[in-house]
Amino acid sequence: MKKRIAIFASGSGSNAQKIMEHFKYSDLAEVAIVLSNNPDAYVLQRADNFEIPSHIFDKTVFYQTNEIVDLLKRLEVDMVILAGFLLLVPENLLQAFPNKIINIHPALLPKFGGKGMYGDRVHKAVLAAGEKEHGITIHFVNEHFDEGEVIYQGRFAVDAGDTLEIIKFKGQQLEHLHYPKVIENLLKKYN
Ligand code: GRF
Repeated sequence: MKKRIAIFASGSGSNAQKIMEHFKYSDLAEVAIVLSNNPDAYVLQRADNFEIPSHIFDKTVFYQTNEIVDLLKRLEVDMVILAGFLLLVPENLLQAFPNKIINIHPALLPKFGGKGMYGDRVHKAVLAAGEKEHGITIHFVNEHFDEGEVIYQGRFAVDAGDTLEIIKFKGQQLEHLHYPKVIENLLKKYN
């Protein structure tokens, strides 16, 4: 049986897109559902383009009910992928998928992570700190923002004159290249 992936995303979903592309013809796994807390998220359109079902939920449902866990269980999901998902994962979801929830962060954690550190804010902070190196982190999710065990880090040089757009682009290229592969490698270890 193919492994089943659920993707949580709050925004554009370019990483979700790469994951859906990667597993479209895979014998190993498939994206079973895309979930979002944001009804206007472009990721929902992307899911539609792949004919992958999506589900929109609000914070109350996420934090005060077991609906989302029940849905994932019903769909026999094996792995939960966060791809630009801005809400903290609640305890019931963590317990239902121990070591099976993965996130991607656009910086070299533990630097430039934590609550409020997302999107352009991360890259602005990196430039303001005069970092010579920047990168991405793929990590297991725990009850704190951006703190679970690191699975993979990709690095690149911040060159003199690099703008926010440039370092953001360099990071995105790395994310798109590595996130699907890291997911695939983890799934191969599941029985
Ligand atoms: C990525 O930079 C990821 O590292 C972070 O949120 C961003 C999502 O971008 N968690 P996209 O929606 O996949 O384009």
